[in-house]
Amino acid sequence: MRVSKWVALITVILFSMSIIAGCGGGSGGTTPAGGEEIRIGLIAPLTGDVKTFGESVKNAFEMAMEEVDYKVGDFTIKVFIEDDRNMATEAVNVADKLITQNKVSAIVGSVTSSSTIPISEVAQANSVVLITPTATNPKVTVDAARKDFVFRACFIDPFQGTVAARFALTELNAKTAAVLYDQGNDYTIGLKDFFKESFVAGGGQMLAEEAYTKNDTDFSAVLTRIAQQKPDVLFLPDYYQKASLIGKQARDKGITATFVGGDGWDSPELDFVAMDGGYHTNHYSADDPRPEVQEWVAKYTAKHGQTPDALGTLAYDATKLLLKAIEDAGSTDPAAIRDAMKALNGFGVVSGSITFDENGNPIKSAAILQIKDGTQKFITIVNP
Ligand code: PHE
Repeated sequence: MRVSKWVALITVILFSMSIIAGCGGGSGGTTPAGGEEIRIGLIAPLTGDVKTFGESVKNAFEMAMEEVDYKVGDFTIKVFIEDDRNMATEAVNVADKLITQNKVSAIVGSVTSSSTIPISEVAQANSVVLITPTATNPKVTVDAARKDFVFRACFIDPFQGTVAARFALTELNAKTAAVLYDQGNDYTIGLKDFFKESFVAGGGQMLAEEAYTKNDTDFSAVLTRIAQQKPDVLFLPDYYQKASLIGKQARDKGITATFVGGDGWDSPELDFVAMDGGYHTNHYSADDPRPEVQEWVAKYTAKHGQTPDALGTLAYDATKLLLKAIEDAGSTDPAAIRDAMKALNGFGVVSGSITFDENGNPIKSAAILQIKDGTQKFITIVNP
């Protein structure tokens, strides 16, 4: 009897102390008692040259949060959403703000590799968990050393570039290729290099490798040269706006090569007329008959009146992965969440079953889609 009174008293004291501690502003490093808040940030390009990416990611992040009613384990979730405008400096600013002012335990984001590589450094230096849904450049999770607070929900560009090159060689019977790439963008540089490596290793020949800068809009000089070389494939490893612009100008110059690209083409704002007949690698296909995919497509379409693109799908998956890790950790401490994330083993999400390798990258298959008659047509799935 006496003992249980003491236990009750101590419980009350500890509970009051935890409430007082909880009032301290929800610092990212505290271990909570019941009813405490966990703070989660989202960084995405909500405006700027790839804003359809940011819109999809935000929609899907919010859907995943609404589904759990902004609760995970014993915590109430508070979210902070920031726009990086697809600019590295802005991404670093908002990451700093989320960490120092908003005291988040974890961040979902950002979307493009050139924004995500710098914020992965910020997250690592501050011991805050970062999971990018979509940034595929290898340097996001490893740069000399492994950044162990950083994870991603997507495959990486060495795989994506290889898949595209092999498809060009074996399915399109391409012998020659030319590539145009943005020399200031880690994603397009990486994808170009990985494509080239596999294409040449497989017996293909690169006829041209032409660099441009983000602000270039007139590609006629380069495209005139390439028109004379008559490559079988024109590889365009950039985002939808730039790839569309180059594709259109290439056709105007009489280039008949088959266009091939990466996940960056995935947008309702791609120029479906100019890019018609082209193929691109992607993270999922809405035509995949797996029930997880069809359920998700139906849910997203009902809410947003549009089929979810890969960005939305991966953002939904990344958010689910993070929530699962927080639940398993039972803590707002980023180190505990990191450990729980590492320990996930075959966790099922829409785009596949996730186990992280030692670099925080899941091993996943790629889809190849064709731009045909105004839509993306599913061609095939390629396993790693
Ligand atoms: N993989 C791209 C990058 O790293 C981002 C992206 C993912 C774009 C998926 C479209 C679809 O920059």
